[in-house]
Amino acid sequence: MNHFKVLSKDSFHIFEKEITQLDLECFSTSNWDLDQWLTLFQNYQLKVLLALREEIVLGFVAFSNIENESELFKIGVKQTERNLSTGSQLIQTMIDLLQNQNTDKVFLEVRSDNQNAIKLYSNFHFKLINRRKNYYQNPMCDALIYRLEI
Ligand SMILES: CC(C)(COP(=O)(O)OP(=O)(O)OC[C@H]1O[C@@H](n2cnc3c(N)ncnc32)[C@H](O)[C@@H]1OP(=O)(O)O)[C@@H](O)C(=O)NCCC(=O)NCCS
Repeated sequence: MNHFKVLSKDSFHIFEKEITQLDLECFSTSNWDLDQWLTLFQNYQLKVLLALREEIVLGFVAFSNIENESELFKIGVKQTERNLSTGSQLIQTMIDLLQNQNTDKVFLEVRSDNQNAIKLYSNFHFKLINRRKNYYQNPMCDALIYRLEI
């Protein structure tokens, strides 16, 4: 059974190694190095929600929460744990947390060729609000901007 833990700037170091490894596994060419993680904690009040099984990190979602708006920066689940609803549980738990903090909007950006992620966001009724044509390179594709009112 999965359980969840929220990390902020002061507690990130406890799972720093596991998170940076999983980030690399999920986002091989666009993973964040430690400096980038720390800068995001500093500048965007980043929070990281972990899905754990017996203290093993299965997945994470990194999001900001400033005033009434949140941005989901990235979500990643271990390859061997995908399609078992961990990603959905992470999004639902994040939404529950944000609703308790008077957040009313969540924004995110995703590559248009990332069908798994798009399906996951659509299941939560994120609405497509903008498309940046050919925004990403190698391979080229659009950036899709989604918003969820919570
Ligand atoms: C996108 C990502 C986070 C999804 O995580 P996940 O844990 O596989 O997501 P879920 O299992 O909750 O849902 C994915 C699909 O599995 C289905 N699913 C959930 N539980 C299931 C089960 N027990 N059996 C079969 N399918 C199941 C979900 O319904 C969903 O499919 P559907 O939308 O077609 O119905 C994961 O694929 C990933 O880490 N990708 C790489 C990183 C990435 O691209 N992140 C997004 C951009 S930031």
